[in-house]
Amino acid sequence: MTELKFETLIIDWPTLKDNEGNVIREGTVDGNYAVISINRPDRLNALTEQVTGEISQALRHMEVDSSVRAVVIRGVKEYTKKPAFSAGADLAAAFNPHLKPNIPMHMALAMRIRHRDYDEFEQFSKPLIAAVDGYALGGGCEIVLCCDIVIASDRSRFGLPEINRGIFPANGGVTRMAARVGINRALRIAYFGEAFDAKTMEEWGLVTWMAPAGDEFEQLVHEKAKWLGDAPTTALFVIKKCVKFGTRYTELGCIMEQLGFGVNQASFDAKEGIMAFNRKVKCPECGGKGKFEDGTKCPTCGGRRKIKDTPHFKGI
Ligand code: COA
Repeated sequence: MTELKFETLIIDWPTLKDNEGNVIREGTVDGNYAVISINRPDRLNALTEQVTGEISQALRHMEVDSSVRAVVIRGVKEYTKKPAFSAGADLAAAFNPHLKPNIPMHMALAMRIRHRDYDEFEQFSKPLIAAVDGYALGGGCEIVLCCDIVIASDRSRFGLPEINRGIFPANGGVTRMAARVGINRALRIAYFGEAFDAKTMEEWGLVTWMAPAGDEFEQLVHEKAKWLGDAPTTALFVIKKCVKFGTRYTELGCIMEQLGFGVNQASFDAKEGIMAFNRKVKCPECGGKGKFEDGTKCPTCGGRRKIKDTPHFKGI
């Protein structure tokens, strides 16, 4: 498979094998997930049309790459100035050269171009984790709002500071923030432009998990991404669509669950999950003996020598 090249991103891929099990791409990630790192550290990973366009392109590719079963978006780990997920729109960059700032319709189109990318992030069919270490402001925070799970380090700051520049968060930020933290808090965040720490955002429901910056944060991101990468991908797909879109209209969401159930029941993983529950394997703790050499009963199998198998999900 030809790999894509990006100017503003670094991508870590999982290992990709062909049908015969031959490695056709050696991965740099220990798990069935990919990592997209925004790589403009000198500008605190500020966003241009090129950056969001490249993220969209990468996600479109990952959506049909069966080795990728979850994706992490983050700022590049090796930062040069301050740790950042992204400090928002690049305030030194111009809009699309075909669009004139003094023509209102052109500016509406400029936003339509941005929304195309943000909608792509939100609708991505596999689990999307925002790993936030540092600033997640403006457009950066708006990317976070498109993700399913948010893992933040304790030195992270979230906010929509656009009001301080006479503008407002128009990449879906006002609407998605209200959906995530409620109308009152969204108004406070967008009206006053303050930045909030990860603890507050955890209390308000935007941050799913928080950890001290450094190894603990990195380990947590890996652990959760690996878990999702090993999980039954089709069931996750249905859950994601129902939670993110079905909840907009409850009756429709419930119908999506019925249709999604039909899709999922045909998957390998739905069968594997049930079969593993009924499948017994030799207890790995005592090697199938039920007890140890000193005569004590094995606590894992309780002396029964066998335990229920762990499901081996393939993502199909
Ligand atoms: N666009 C372009 N460059 C940006 C940027 C942005 N959104 N945010 C930060 N940078 C650049 C700075 O210009 C600076 O570059 P320099 O070192 O060449 O001067 C570098 O990143 C470091 O930022 P700095 O402001 O020195 O760091 P700080 O720790 O003092 O402040 C922020 C960090 C994020 C609070 C501050 O940079 C800021 O307010 N950025 C703009 C955030 C914003 O309004 N985003 C929404 C845009 S609509």
